[in-house]
Parts: sequence; C-alpha cells; structure tokens
Amino acid sequence: MDTRLSSAQQPGPRGEGPSSPDGWSEAEGTVQKDDTSGPAGDFNSIEPSLHSLQKFVPTNYASYTQEYYLFAGKKIVVQESIESYGAVVWPGATALCQYLEEHTEELNLQEAKILEIGAGPGLVSIVASILGAQVTATDLPDVLGNLQHNLLKNTLTRTAHLPEVKELVWGEGLEQNFPKSTFYYDYVLASDVVYHHYCLDKLLTTMVHLCQPGTVLLWANKFRFSTDYEFLDKFKQVFDTTFLAEFPASSVKIFKGILKWD
Ligand SMILES: C[S@@+](CC[C@H](N)C(=O)[O-])C[C@H]1O[C@@H](n2cnc3c(N)ncnc32)[C@H](O)[C@@H]1O
Repeated sequence: MDTRLSSAQQPGPRGEGPSSPDGWSEAEGTVQKDDTSGPAGDFNSIEPSLHSLQKFVPTNYASYTQEYYLFAGKKIVVQESIESYGAVVWPGATALCQYLEEHTEELNLQEAKILEIGAGPGLVSIVASILGAQVTATDLPDVLGNLQHNLLKNTLTRTAHLPEVKELVWGEGLEQNFPKSTFYYDYVLASDVVYHHYCLDKLLTTMVHLCQPGTVLLWANKFRFSTDYEFLDKFKQVFDTTFLAEFPASSVKIFKGILKWD
C-alpha cells in the first residue's frame, strides 16, 4: 500500500492544507531558504515553553518540500529535502510505519520505550509516537534540526509522550551517551539504514549495543545491493532473526532481531 498521498489527494495551496494538531497549515511545494515557513519560521509559532525543545540548529537546506502521509488515522506532514539522504523518507520507513500500525496491539506499543537509529526526517518516530510509544529519534548532527522540526509539528498535541531527539553517530560514544545501565529500550527501530556506505560494521555494533535482554529490533530495508545481503548474514550471526514481512512493490523486507545471549 502506498501511504504517501498522491498529489490529487494532497491539500491545495496555503489555506486549504491540513490543519495540524496545533492549528498550522502548510502550503504544498517547495519552500525557499529565508522563507519564514521554513524550519526556523515555523518554530516561531510554537508556544514559548516549547522553545526549550528547540535544541538543534534548524537544518539549512536550500529548498524543502512538504510531503503528506496517512498512518494511524492521522495525516502527517513531513518536511523533506532532496539535498540529504537524511532529509527524505525512504521506502523502508513507509513499510515499517504500515507494519507498526497494523500490529500496534500485538507489539504492545502503548508506553513502549523506543529508540530509532538513522531516523532521517522522522516518519517512523512520528508514527510510533502517535501509536503511544515513548520515542527517542537519533541521527547524525546535521539532520537533527529538520528531524526535530518534523517531530514537533506532528506530535505536539497528538501524543502522550513528546518524542526526544538525540545525536547518535553509529559506533561512536555508545557507552558514554547511551550507557546500558541507564538506557533500556523495548524496541530499536531502523529503516533503510543499510545501503552502500562505509559504516556497516559500526551500524551493527550500534544495534548490538542498544539491545539488551527483552529488546526487539525491527529493521526494515529495501534490498538493492549484494552488500545488503552480506549485512543480513552478519546480522543473523548476532541476532536471532525472524522474517516478518515483505513489500514486493518496493523490495522492502522487515526483520525482527533479538540479540543472541551466550
Ligand atoms: C537512507 S536514510 C533513511 C532515513 C529514514 N530512516 C527513512 O527510512 O526514511 C539513512 C539515515 O541514516 C543516517 N546515517 C547514515 N550514516 C550514519 C552514521 N554513521 N551514524 C548515524 N546515522 C547515520 C542518515 O543521516 C540517514 O538519516
């Protein structure tokens, strides 16, 4: 199922767009740099107490689009930019959102503690928050501004728990920043974090670090390259792995991993 709304379904120009939880409305299309409807401008309309949550400098892409999605009965608007891998919603994210909304009760997402790695523009974290989870969305420093912008816009008055945003660079400072004694997650979520890049070993190290007894890792990925299957082989060596779902139209597969304990 394609859950990105088609342009025919998308709202029209400014004023006809969706009402957000906090009453804003968005124009469809590209927002140019310096336009006050960009990330910095939008924060100005958020009530003062929430300014403290704007810990990250707004991401400075030259242009943005507003993309609309429908999950968990809510219209979700995500500010995206083709200028960064981390500012576009990938097919693994929409597949994982669909899986989460279809299995909310079985996964017991209400109040579940969730960390997402490589959250990008944040669609999965937004949907998990709307479904009742306590979410920490993580990524590289340069995408956190746009990530936080999208999370706030879509969760502000819709969720019991406002999601958090934290920097997490794979393989770096894991025990310092996410000590196992303090940080426990019911779920670690990852969508389209495996593709042709040079941090695959660090990614696996990160997945292992974040999982403790009882943690379930849900990994959705579009399988494109032989390196994706090589990563899957390594993943299976350290995680008891269950194949959960396949989305043939997008070549996305979803796996559940539970860390092996010797
Ligand atoms: C292909 S995008 C997927 C984004 C999002 N999960 C989705 O499916 O729409 C990969 C994400 O991993 C992040 N990433 C890449 N290398 C990383 C690293 N070394 N440490 C942390 N995050 C990284 C990118 O910034 C980006 O947000």
